[in-house]
Amino acid sequence: MIEIPQPRNRETLYRRHVGHLLECTEDLLARAGYDRLLLHSGCSHARFQDDYHPPFRAHPHFVAWLPLPRNADCLLEIRPAARPKLWLTLPDDFWHAPPESPAAWWADHFEIEIVTDPAAWQPTLEEATATALIADPVDFGTLGRHADLNPAALLAGLDELRTVKTDWQIECIRTANRIARAGHDAAGAAFADGASELEIHLAYLAAAGHDPDTLPYNSIVALNEHCAVLHYQYREAAPPGDSRSFLIDAGADCCGYAADITRTHVRDSAGFADLIDAMNGLQQRLAGRMQEGRSYVDLHTEAHRGVAEVLRSSSIVSMEIDAMLEAGVTSTFFPHGLGHFLGVQVHDVAGRVAPDGSPLPPPDRHPMLRLTRVLEAGNVLTVEPGLYFIPSLLEKLRQTPISGQVDWKAVDALAPYGGIRIEDDVVVRRDSADNLTREGWS
Ligand code: GLY
Ligand code: MN
Ligand code: MN
Repeated sequence: MIEIPQPRNRETLYRRHVGHLLECTEDLLARAGYDRLLLHSGCSHARFQDDYHPPFRAHPHFVAWLPLPRNADCLLEIRPAARPKLWLTLPDDFWHAPPESPAAWWADHFEIEIVTDPAAWQPTLEEATATALIADPVDFGTLGRHADLNPAALLAGLDELRTVKTDWQIECIRTANRIARAGHDAAGAAFADGASELEIHLAYLAAAGHDPDTLPYNSIVALNEHCAVLHYQYREAAPPGDSRSFLIDAGADCCGYAADITRTHVRDSAGFADLIDAMNGLQQRLAGRMQEGRSYVDLHTEAHRGVAEVLRSSSIVSMEIDAMLEAGVTSTFFPHGLGHFLGVQVHDVAGRVAPDGSPLPPPDRHPMLRLTRVLEAGNVLTVEPGLYFIPSLLEKLRQTPISGQVDWKAVDALAPYGGIRIEDDVVVRRDSADNLTREGWS
């Protein structure tokens, strides 16, 4: 039997979390001039011209309040100085099992009205009071006409609130990491046994007690050259004749919060194994630097310097480090960002705005960077440097004058292994960094 880890100290941490959200949301509502906030969990939509519904996932602003990522058609109402009210829709439907029913540890903080149809709460939308509604416009049409739908300033404030995590949110992400670690261990063992991508994927799910529908994102399960495809999306059913390398980016969910972990394994190449060790060392150094006051753009630049050092020390590129950086050579091997905020969304909100909501676009040379802020204690983010051998990018490098300083024989020998990425989830603290992924695990 799989025992799924649960958040520790659940009742206390969740109670404090809701209290904190209430206090901050009341403040945001007062500043924006609203009497109440309505958060919709979303509707389940069938595919075009089909009666098949893809797996439902509730809207993130709703999940930030309630551990109900699978409950569609619910509405949460927040009014200053009142107990939040949840219209919990549990359809009377013999085709499907009902979604999550109330459990005391979370339900005690809400006034709950169980309804079988959203029509039961729709009249509240007609109330003539200053209302902000956070919802997908497609789900409401004229129904929400008395409310302000997704007002920008309030939405920015709610997003900002999610950038500094409460202890509850951190505990959920920590627990999601514990769940994902069990999956990664099983996946590593399946690779060692020569399993196919699909078999490894299934071994991961079984060990993590997850179903693909409940994962926070589609896992990347890649063997050999597939490791060079940044978001490789398939899982071949048959094992390759020669299973050399394995990159897995797979997470887990706890109460709507995500873990996001990547590991790279190799069977028996000394050269590629050395590169994995070097990248692991770099990743750990960077993860240890996620402290309050540091600029994530600077940390991303440090990651490029680290990749340049790995390329030079492994004799793949013979240029001086500064010259390599100046020429942008590292972007051929590390074309993505160092990481992103993590929470109820895997790529969590507000990574590219300042706390006052003003835009913080990524530097021209690093357009893929999803996080451009100065770090604050309580931020949770990923640290995921990579070193890839991507044929199309290598071909471009081959066409430049720098080509002569690249050891193409070494590159050609490493390309069949695809690439390396190592990714952990880290909490920013005032004077330290708390690596949630490596707690008793490497
Ligand atoms: N798993 C998605 C990412 O690492 O950004
Ligand atoms: Mn990530
Ligand atoms: Mn990832």
